[in-house]
Amino acid sequence: MTRKGNKSMGAMGGLAALAGAAGLLLSGLLIANQAAAKSKYEVDGRKSGYHYSNPETNEMQDDDFLNPGMLWVQRGIALWSKVDGAAGKSCASCHGDDARKTMRGVFTVYPKLNKKTGKLENIEQRINRCRVENMKAKPWKWESGELLSMTTFIGFLSRGLPMNVKVDGEVKPFFEKGKAEYFKRRGQLDMACKHCHIDNPGKRIRADLLSEGRAGQAFPLYRLKWQKIGSLHRRFRGCNKQVRAKPYKPGAEEYVNLELYVKWRSRGLPVEVPAVRR
Ligand code: HEC
Ligand code: HEC
Repeated sequence: MTRKGNKSMGAMGGLAALAGAAGLLLSGLLIANQAAAKSKYEVDGRKSGYHYSNPETNEMQDDDFLNPGMLWVQRGIALWSKVDGAAGKSCASCHGDDARKTMRGVFTVYPKLNKKTGKLENIEQRINRCRVENMKAKPWKWESGELLSMTTFIGFLSRGLPMNVKVDGEVKPFFEKGKAEYFKRRGQLDMACKHCHIDNPGKRIRADLLSEGRAGQAFPLYRLKWQKIGSLHRRFRGCNKQVRAKPYKPGAEEYVNLELYVKWRSRGLPVEVPAVRR
């Protein structure tokens, strides 16, 4: 840009001041919006990871046009009516074209007992059971684009509803195992989940601000570090590796039990899928 003399510089200065004021106003609005969102993401003192996340990341989450996770929701919508497998059916064949009518709330109560096997089953496994038993199709692989997209879509359909997993009765033994896993010291650093997420939330650990790890309501979520959506089990693996412990396979019983405990820690918190984190 060339200098054009004092007069127009003055005008430009005025413009810059105006733009600055608008920017201030905007960031003021942003902070006000996020303050409202923040109170929504805290229930009985239990705080979602949203509280520990930075404002720019939260802004991405709050705006469906900016939220990169919405791409996986769209892919899930497309898969919903895609015919696959020997039975010649799509999800829509049985659950209807408008998934909002049949799937709202479903996400909030998983993992749940599978009465047939007597085992705990999470939402990914429930989706794959429908593929195998009802569509005669192959199960989708863990962390595949398809399974992530469908799980994200089903989570999105419950957005805003409180997490509400059942932990008593027949499910109690699984819950107790998941809880034990949360408190078990593991790895070369000899640390349990609780040492970071119960004892030290709000403290910095290297580049991260430790949260309460309450994200059962937020996964699958878009991580800037991953540059994509990832499952809760992928996050568990990452946390295991941080303490130099051997991670379990995604979908392993240990992780499904742990997922029940983590989702119970998120009880009452509104579903945020697809959330965005650093
Ligand atoms: C050495 C500390 C440490 C340990 C131990 C640890 N984590 Fe984490 N965890 C982190 C950090 C750092 C992050 C990213 C920042 C945050 O949200 O806390 C994280 C994030 C998470 C998140 C995502 C939170 C969100 O809102 O995005 C979950 C869920 C989680 N951890 C669960 C676990 C579980 C379950 C265990 C035990 C298997 C565990 N963590 C053990 C450090 C730890
Ligand atoms: C041939 C019919 C059929 C097809 C096709 C089918 N399902 Fe199902 N699905 C069922 C039945 C039956 C149930 C059990 C109903 C119940 O528990 O109320 C079920 C249950 C579910 C549940 C658990 C609902 C709950 O309330 O716990 C989910 C999630 C689900 N299906 C997702 C899917 C998805 C995603 C697809 C496509 C990939 C699909 N289903 C394809 C018949 C089907």
